[in-house]
Amino acid sequence: MRVLVVGGSGYVGNLVVPRLAEHHLVRVLDPRPPDAAVEHLAGSALDYDALAAGLVGMDAVIHAAMGSHDWDTPAGAADNLSVNVTSVHLTLLAAHRAGVPHAVHVSSMSVYQDLMERRLSDESVPPDATDPYGLSKRLGEEVCRAAVAQWGLSVNILRLTWPTPDELWPAWGALGGSERLLAADGTPVDATAASDLAQALLAALEHRDGLQVFTISGDRSAKLWSVERARRTLGWEPTFPRG
Ligand SMILES: NC(=O)c1ccc[n+]([C@@H]2O[C@H](COP(=O)([O-])OP(=O)(O)OC[C@H]3O[C@@H](n4cnc5c(N)ncnc54)[C@H](O)[C@@H]3O)[C@@H](O)[C@H]2O)c1
Repeated sequence: MRVLVVGGSGYVGNLVVPRLAEHHLVRVLDPRPPDAAVEHLAGSALDYDALAAGLVGMDAVIHAAMGSHDWDTPAGAADNLSVNVTSVHLTLLAAHRAGVPHAVHVSSMSVYQDLMERRLSDESVPPDATDPYGLSKRLGEEVCRAAVAQWGLSVNILRLTWPTPDELWPAWGALGGSERLLAADGTPVDATAASDLAQALLAALEHRDGLQVFTISGDRSAKLWSVERARRTLGWEPTFPRG
């Protein structure tokens, strides 16, 4: 399959692109280059023409771009919403117009507030985050829902929890260190190993059935969230470090 990864040069992109490239022909659209030696198109997902160019010849698209993390400044808040919401819409619009029928949207369990303080039975629990990042991820998911309804695309939304390099698991590595996450009651929460995450993306590239939402978590310790839906539908469950 030929796959465009929008925003494939960030933390998550660099965790998974090398593994995706073992199975598919990968092109990355991102202002900055990816670590892996894959085709790179320098450009913004807020630029429709760049998206249209990036989608030429593709079979599927993964949206993994993320806007500014500087949510407390007005400029950062605006970029967060632009990339996490508007660029999702433009990506799916460009995919629709290019005849690319399938997308995987990288979302986050941050669509829920108080994530570490409660158990969530399954993906049907309504997202309720109101912080700038969680809100933008909620809205990004709604954009996917609308694209499926309007244009008949299939979109798999993957709600990630704490992706991390294999060598750091079960700690989380996003902030440059190695952070062991804890639930509100002090129970450790395992991060999601890059190899498990890549397997989830590979499965999500194959499965096509309208709009589907999956919790993707490598945690086997606190068990706050269930990956039963991904196991049943995608045939995915975390296996690292067993392999
Ligand atoms: N990091 C985590 O722990 C974590 C957890 C759960 C979900 N996620 C999700 O993973 C995805 C990627 O997050 P990340 O941690 O890799 O973020 P990141 O900031 O490390 O990387 C984001 C990438 O998007 C690119 N980008 C920014 N604006 C762009 C634009 N206009 N067009 C194209 N590319 C653009 C950046 O250059 C960067 O390469 C996001 O959807 C995020 O919500 C991340």
